[in-house]
Amino acid sequence: MKSKFFSFIFLLISIQTIRAQESEAPYIVPNDPEVVKNIQDWQDLKFGIFMHWGTYSQWGVVESWSICPEDEGWTQRKGQYSTDYFTYKKAYEDLQKKFNPVNFNPDKWAAAAKEAGFKYMILTFKHHDGFCMYNSKYTDYKITSPNTPFHTNPKADVGKETAEAFRKQGFKIGTYFSKPDWHCDSYWWPYFPPKDRNVNYDPKRYPERWQQYKDFTFNQIEEILSDYGKVDILWLDGGWVRPQKTIDPAVEWQKTIPYDQDVDMAKIAAMGRRHQPGLIVVDRSVTGEFENYRTPEQQIPEVPLAYPWETCMTMATSWSYVPGDIYKPAGTIIHYLVDIVAKGGNYLLNVGPSPLGDYDTVAYSRMKEIGAWMKVNGEAIYGTRPVSPYKEKNICFTQNKDQSVNAIYLAGIEESTLPPVVRIKGIKPTKKATIQLLGAKNSLKWKIENGEIVIIIPTSLQKAPPCNYAWSFKISLVE
Ligand code: GLC
Repeated sequence: MKSKFFSFIFLLISIQTIRAQESEAPYIVPNDPEVVKNIQDWQDLKFGIFMHWGTYSQWGVVESWSICPEDEGWTQRKGQYSTDYFTYKKAYEDLQKKFNPVNFNPDKWAAAAKEAGFKYMILTFKHHDGFCMYNSKYTDYKITSPNTPFHTNPKADVGKETAEAFRKQGFKIGTYFSKPDWHCDSYWWPYFPPKDRNVNYDPKRYPERWQQYKDFTFNQIEEILSDYGKVDILWLDGGWVRPQKTIDPAVEWQKTIPYDQDVDMAKIAAMGRRHQPGLIVVDRSVTGEFENYRTPEQQIPEVPLAYPWETCMTMATSWSYVPGDIYKPAGTIIHYLVDIVAKGGNYLLNVGPSPLGDYDTVAYSRMKEIGAWMKVNGEAIYGTRPVSPYKEKNICFTQNKDQSVNAIYLAGIEESTLPPVVRIKGIKPTKKATIQLLGAKNSLKWKIENGEIVIIIPTSLQKAPPCNYAWSFKISLVE
């Protein structure tokens, strides 16, 4: 009795914790049919590559956050400039003067990403530190500024070059843009010291300054959406920049937002869609009309979610490039992808380019392994939709548009051969159904036993599976 009581309390606490991080507000279906269509197309893609790249990559530190005067684990300042805040911020901003990623070759990235099976790309055009990785007209704090050695390089406009290279390979393009800008003097007004991640003055008290900030934000987003070719996703980070009325008191971190920081998303979204019809707008964490999909970060939901969503996750441990960072094994990445897709989500996997402008060699080798798996199993991933029971122990399910169902068996760490039989409970094949292991030639024998499908795997196939890490059984017809 006692233990039941405690597990009940534990359950309540866990639910509370999930609630405290993410809002439960209902998803709002966009009323523009072109946006709806674009979201559905994007849901078919499943797998995107994310890139956090900026001057911070030179120090191998966290992106932007070390200049945020909050005492959090991820904001710690280290090294010779860390004795006082202002010295540090200056040294951090001086990184601009040495940024020269001479090995930058976006065609090489795009080819490797395509081979890995990624279908869309999101690059940090501007992170919270305000440094623009594109040629903004509205600031000098940018990769194309004479202050930055790379500005003379023919590929200096990194945003443009990267978007073009990936577009050429058939990718959908997303631009990460931080709503807060810790370099801009109408966000962190130099008259006051910065206090935390928020605007450092009360916008209600200084409406003209806030208006300047709104205009600046609008203008920068407009140049990205009008001068950089086709953009499919505007991925807006920094959810504390939001109207006060959207603050959800049930979400712990939102309680600390001190001011109304309304940048007029309605105006931004309308402008964006004038330039880019059907643009998906992701106003992260600001549940409402402008969060066209949700973005659980570094986590996979326990259960399928009833709205469009995408888990963003690092391939290593950090969003930014850190020398010697530990990359997740390919098998783990593949299992996460399958789990996410079975729950109806997309997987946005981050690789941080180095200060010289290339991915870590480990990232390339992971991408190769993922690509080899995708070649065999891609049809069980792309274009699929979730299907009940979603997941049964180590088997995940997806459904193709022709209604066939894929049962994807996640192999254990030591499991390199297929088991002699695979049993599945939650799916009922019709009598005429065929079951095929993707990557193998012949269809497999199967029968129903005690209401379960029993798939029989010939010995030769057990020993020579068509791929590593996870195996997809395609069931042609289900009831
Ligand atoms: C976290 C990090 C932020 C990063 C984002 C990507 O919120 O703090 O720097 O850009 O994740 O989703």
